[in-house]
Amino acid sequence: MIQTEIGKDINKAKLYLAGSQVVAIPTETVYGLAANGHDPAAVAKIFKAKKRPLSNPLILHYKNAQAAFNDAIEIPEQALLLAKTFWPGPLTMLLPKKNHVPDTVTAGKHRVAVRVPNHPLTMNLLESLDFPLAAPSANLYGCISPTSAEHVLNQLKNSIPYILDGGKCKKGIESTIVGFDDGEVVLYRLGGIDLEALEKCLNKKISTYKNNKVEEEPLASGMVKHHYAPKTPMHHINNKSHQMNLKKCGFIGFNKIDKDIPTENQFLLSKNGDLKEAASQLYASFHMMDGKNHEAILIEFVPEIELGRSINDRIRRAIQKNKA
Ligand code: TXA
Ligand code: MG
Repeated sequence: MIQTEIGKDINKAKLYLAGSQVVAIPTETVYGLAANGHDPAAVAKIFKAKKRPLSNPLILHYKNAQAAFNDAIEIPEQALLLAKTFWPGPLTMLLPKKNHVPDTVTAGKHRVAVRVPNHPLTMNLLESLDFPLAAPSANLYGCISPTSAEHVLNQLKNSIPYILDGGKCKKGIESTIVGFDDGEVVLYRLGGIDLEALEKCLNKKISTYKNNKVEEEPLASGMVKHHYAPKTPMHHINNKSHQMNLKKCGFIGFNKIDKDIPTENQFLLSKNGDLKEAASQLYASFHMMDGKNHEAILIEFVPEIELGRSINDRIRRAIQKNKA
């Protein structure tokens, strides 16, 4: 069993990573479970610690755009523009990979997912390394993404040596993923950069949304992979019924409390109705509610605009788990 240490020591993190070990790192979106992204043996340890199927590829994190583009054989004009506008930041791009990028990172796909994260500790760490960091979210497979060092510890205690503590993640929701199919920008996952901002940057509408097939693919007939979901059953507030003991239910609301549920069981994502604040609180509210032993967690959608789309996407996936 490995003793897990939490600290702010970049040199310690660097030593573990240079020795092909796995370390949890803070980013502006969620914590990542990182290892040398150019070393297949180190990458294999990520899959093992997270209990993630090898068929689900990983994002590579770089110190800057130049380093990221150096792992791709072709960089579309639109990718250059997006990088200039949103990096460092919560945008991941799928680009055709060079041979030296291990197949274990991309799960055998010809494209590699690249991103330059925006967190001071992790940027300093990346600056000190001569390789990128492969990192999925630092949760056990199928569980809620972590937005604090404590969330990571709760799930990965004794399976990784070090958690680099960078405080609470400011964005609180994973990166937006885009690809370039036949010259068209395609959205693969809604996230920290909203659709409106992408369209403004590109000066055109993005009409194609390809659901991330790997995340959605069934495990066995009738069974759908659950993602971003608490263990406690989660239902939309409109499905609240008389069979439920509402005194024993929690409620996650956007900006207004629910009249039927005890006030102490409620959490508002943003009292002021601010979508940025709501995104940063979403997973923290899932972790917190899951620790309360409620019979069920009721939740409402937020307005379907800007970051609200990304928030609603995660809420939908969390609710879907119960239908599976
Ligand atoms: O904000 C984020 O993106 C965080 C932080 C740590 O950077 N990372 C993250 O990683 O959310 P993960 O592994 O939990 O989600 C990445 C998603 C997965 O659904 C994976 O299937 C998809 O990106 N992905 C990665 N490489 C891909 C590829 N080559 N082609 C298609 N999808 C890919
Ligand atoms: Mg994840």
